[in-house]
Amino acid sequence: MAMDPIRVVLFGLGPIGQRIAHTILGKRGIEIVGAVDIDPEKVGRDLGEILGLDRRLGVTVTDDADALLDKIGADVAVIATTSYVRTVYDQVVKCIEAGLDVVSTSEELAYPWVDEPQLAAEIDGLARQYGVTVLATGINPGYFMDTFPLILTALCREVKRIEAVRAIPTGQRRSSFQRKIGTGMKPEEFKAKLERGEITGHVGFRQSVALTAAALGWTLDEIKEYPPEPVIAEREVKTTYTTVKPGQMLGYNAVAEGIIDGEAVIRYKLVMHAGVEEGYEEYLIEGTPTIKVRMSEMLGDWETAHIAVNMIPRVITAQPGLLTMKDMPLPTAVLGDMRIFIT
Ligand SMILES: NC(=O)c1ccc[n+]([C@@H]2O[C@H](COP(=O)([O-])OP(=O)(O)OC[C@H]3O[C@@H](n4cnc5c(N)ncnc54)[C@H](OP(=O)(O)O)[C@@H]3O)[C@@H](O)[C@H]2O)c1
Repeated sequence: MAMDPIRVVLFGLGPIGQRIAHTILGKRGIEIVGAVDIDPEKVGRDLGEILGLDRRLGVTVTDDADALLDKIGADVAVIATTSYVRTVYDQVVKCIEAGLDVVSTSEELAYPWVDEPQLAAEIDGLARQYGVTVLATGINPGYFMDTFPLILTALCREVKRIEAVRAIPTGQRRSSFQRKIGTGMKPEEFKAKLERGEITGHVGFRQSVALTAAALGWTLDEIKEYPPEPVIAEREVKTTYTTVKPGQMLGYNAVAEGIIDGEAVIRYKLVMHAGVEEGYEEYLIEGTPTIKVRMSEMLGDWETAHIAVNMIPRVITAQPGLLTMKDMPLPTAVLGDMRIFIT
């Protein structure tokens, strides 16, 4: 293939950003030319060292995105830093103004018109002005509770209702994740932390519901997101993070719904606690025909990295603007050269 490899700048080298880097390094026709992170532990180090490789990659992590973008001449930024549009906004705008297409794992950015319509309009306007595309994706939001059920509906003449349940056995997950879902906490302590905003429920729930509705042309009267419901241990349960005593939380269940005329036409449920025997994703598309699908569990971190990387060639060829997964061509794995769709 004649054209140069796709040049990528990474923003954020946490667990997701590192997986994105590993995924890119395993592909052809693409190279990492810059890496930005504000964590002082990472700044100044070679990316290869951060990724635990036995070789240097010649990419030094910087916290000065402006200086990097001024000189680097990249094609795409992959942003895996923070969840909210407000916190990711500056990084997205910097990349747009430097002429880069953007793929992000920010949950709110997956459908930002729900909670941040003003910032969404600004990002969309700038992206069009600079002729670049901005897309946020991942596993949830980005796939399990929007893209995948939407793909299932392609077989239907009529759709009345969509339900999805994602069950995650959390006892083996990262400690930070177990902490975030209240593992080992008293339910009162968890609720107080939620009220004080010290922990959040699943960020992106509302965005998945809104994205699903928008793709089907459904105008929702309301999106209801219920507060996470603590799941309490009845006996002692050991996890990789802590030992949960009876009366303490194993995690929580959470539900978000899209409502039309008092009916939940979309109902998404997360079952996230230790003690879940087997993880799964389960779908009901009620319509003509009715479709039921059950998948075996996927943990999500690697898959989030994979879908973000698989969307890179799609984003490069997409029309300018702030797009969502419903605006993209059928998402697939990119198995060969990453320049496959780019002519
Ligand atoms: N859509 C999905 O399905 C999905 C799935 C998984 C994760 N996510 C999201 O993807 C993001 C990354 O996940 P993660 O687990 O890797 O997060 P993480 O552990 O918080 O790591 C993020 C990294 O980015 C750095 N960072 C924060 N703000 C930055 C900025 N303005 N510029 C450059 N670097 C910055 C952080 O530094 P400090 O530590 O110093 O702040 C940290 O090193 C999170 O928002 C997560 O919620 C989405």
